[in-house]
Amino acid sequence: MGFDPFSFPKPWVIAHRGDSGTYPENTLLSFRKAVEIKADWIELDITYSSDNQIVVIHDDSLDRTTDKKGEIRLLPYNLIRNSDAGSWKDPKFKGEPVPNLWEVWEFLKDKEIGLNVEIKSTAYEEIPIEAAIEQELVDYAKKNSLFSRTLFSSFCWDSLVRLRELSVEPKLGILIGDETSSWEDALELGFRLNAFSLNLSMANLNSEIVSKIQGEGFKVLVYTLNTEEELKKGIDMGVDGIFTNFPTRMRSLLT
Ligand code: G3P
Ligand code: MG
Repeated sequence: MGFDPFSFPKPWVIAHRGDSGTYPENTLLSFRKAVEIKADWIELDITYSSDNQIVVIHDDSLDRTTDKKGEIRLLPYNLIRNSDAGSWKDPKFKGEPVPNLWEVWEFLKDKEIGLNVEIKSTAYEEIPIEAAIEQELVDYAKKNSLFSRTLFSSFCWDSLVRLRELSVEPKLGILIGDETSSWEDALELGFRLNAFSLNLSMANLNSEIVSKIQGEGFKVLVYTLNTEEELKKGIDMGVDGIFTNFPTRMRSLLT
């Protein structure tokens, strides 16, 4: 692989769920568009279907972003796959399927863009490690030489602990929710897991905290900034990367 997305100039433009302000989130269409407009990274969300296929979708259910209904965890992949994940955004996107992770990785194979895989808490199960999603991710990434272009993140810190238990290789981003945890706790976990970044919401952040975290050796990624005002604020704070639904807007502020 001739490129290293971890060395791209900062702040990284991270296309949140793809180019999702304009195209249906977490679909191959929105990932393709993110590549076309030269985002530095793509972020996507994953969980398991009932038959343990890794589905790329944000919500716990199909209701908001497809034409079908039901809990992802309780539905087989072929049903999820055949739902229409485009029309809710605009009828012109009708028929856009819900992808699985392998096909996104396959699509990105020859593209010079990083991938942030966010593991949803619904994917975490109290089962033997060798049967867990984290094992499957590590095996696939190893087999396909993907560690050098992938950041794994999760609000479910148990999932990150497990990834590290399985391998020293994955780069880990510790996600911090608005109310669920503090950046100080995340920092502690960051040291324990030798994490790459702390991924925070803007509500938790000011430039002093950004410098403190960076001073401890971790990158700071902030989610999800969309308006010009928000993006400028994030850029001025000196963060290392910004998750945005409008990657073109952010890029134009940087040039
Ligand atoms: O990873 C950043 C951001 O995506 C976290 O929140 O709910 O959009 O997945 P959410
Ligand atoms: Mg996400």
